[in-house]
Amino acid sequence: MNWRTKSIEDLRQESEAHPLKKTLSWPHLIAMGVGAIIGMGIFTLTALGAKLAGPGVILSFALAGTVCALAALCYAEVSTIIPASGSAYTYSYTVMGELAAWLIGFALVLEYALGSSAVAVGWAKHVIGFLQESQGLSLPAAFLAGPFEGGTINLFAMGIVLLITGLLLLGTRESALLNMVLVALKLSALTAFIVVAGPSIQAGNYQPFMPYGFYAQIVDGEKVGVMAAAAIMFFAFYGFDAVSTAAEETKNPGRDLTIGITGSMVICTIFYMLIAAVALGTLNHLEFAKTNDEPLPYILRQLGQPWVADFVSLAAIVSMPSVLLVFMYGQSRILFVMSRDGLIPASLAKVNKKGIPGLMTLLTGLFVAVFAGLVPLQDIASLANAGTLCAFIAVSLTLIILRIKRPDIERPFKTPLWWLVAPGAIAGCLFLFTSLNEKTLLYFFGWIVIGLLVYLGYGLWHSNLKSKSS
Ligand code: ALA
Repeated sequence: MNWRTKSIEDLRQESEAHPLKKTLSWPHLIAMGVGAIIGMGIFTLTALGAKLAGPGVILSFALAGTVCALAALCYAEVSTIIPASGSAYTYSYTVMGELAAWLIGFALVLEYALGSSAVAVGWAKHVIGFLQESQGLSLPAAFLAGPFEGGTINLFAMGIVLLITGLLLLGTRESALLNMVLVALKLSALTAFIVVAGPSIQAGNYQPFMPYGFYAQIVDGEKVGVMAAAAIMFFAFYGFDAVSTAAEETKNPGRDLTIGITGSMVICTIFYMLIAAVALGTLNHLEFAKTNDEPLPYILRQLGQPWVADFVSLAAIVSMPSVLLVFMYGQSRILFVMSRDGLIPASLAKVNKKGIPGLMTLLTGLFVAVFAGLVPLQDIASLANAGTLCAFIAVSLTLIILRIKRPDIERPFKTPLWWLVAPGAIAGCLFLFTSLNEKTLLYFFGWIVIGLLVYLGYGLWHSNLKSKSS
């Protein structure tokens, strides 16, 4: 076992040597959070949630949102104590040691890289739906989905990944102004859906509310129930880590981060619950579950509202790539930090003249594109969720360990009721994790074993901490 840890003081010194300007306040953070959170999950996965839970998916949203809010509060405290890049990987390095950190980093690849593949597939579904349903084009089926879903390759999904990779190689970062515009667009599309489809709700569609029960259980080879849907719909909530990474740039971290994180989470949860309530109230859940590709525009077309359907569809198409940009940027930077620590060969993370780890960005893009092109959405999204849940657990655990072992550290943000919030986040994440389907759990543990082998074969011998200690 390898328990080498990084010192918090060293990391703080590194960051204090290059202080960032404190320009952000809570309204910026709420916009940042909502911008990173709303994406493929609500626009595409809602139909899958309805298939797994029936109208009970409304409850699934509430549960997944609550778990995320608890984990987000833990992120806020830990990220202000350890203001360094690398997210859960770096935090774990300081208290749980190198091996645990490496494995968390490996799990983060699932969150960021597979999460990106999932967003790309959801985006492709909207583009294809728009071109076929609204514009009446007929497209060659072989190129619209991967081999497990009746096609050969999902060209649209691969295309958007390669385009975003190109933008990242050019040095594109998401700008605050563009984010504001996209947040406004997303919220107006969701509001338009609620307002236009809302009056067609029929109370009878909510009965029975939980046709597949509450706990995840296997029916016909698939895990169903409110918790099974919550474990999938969890995808719709993450991305808020983006908010905690801005900790160093906030004017009053204690106030701004609490309001920013909980505020963006509350806004998204309310919107999601309303969308689910309207979607499942207008259409019987068995009908709704069939609308796999672009559920919200589909319902609007059924209701005779093609213009609003096109607006929602276009809003999804325009806004989802920004989630992709944030996630793929995050992935290449986490790998970059891991290589700076000596756990990945430095040659892979060489920074080019533009200050970008070019090769790493390209490799990340290819990895994301292959999954997006070939693997079905549900499989990628569940695996991304498994990796993310693992990272959330690690961060909450880091908070508990630091509170006990290092009560002396200055804490710009203190998680309220931490002794309740952090264990609650861990328990909630474990509940969601065990509600994922068996295949996902198997792939997840397989991935972690691969991570372990890579560490034993490389990182253990090349780590910077090893060379420092020997
Ligand atoms: N929460 C983000 C989305 O739903 C990842 O696209």
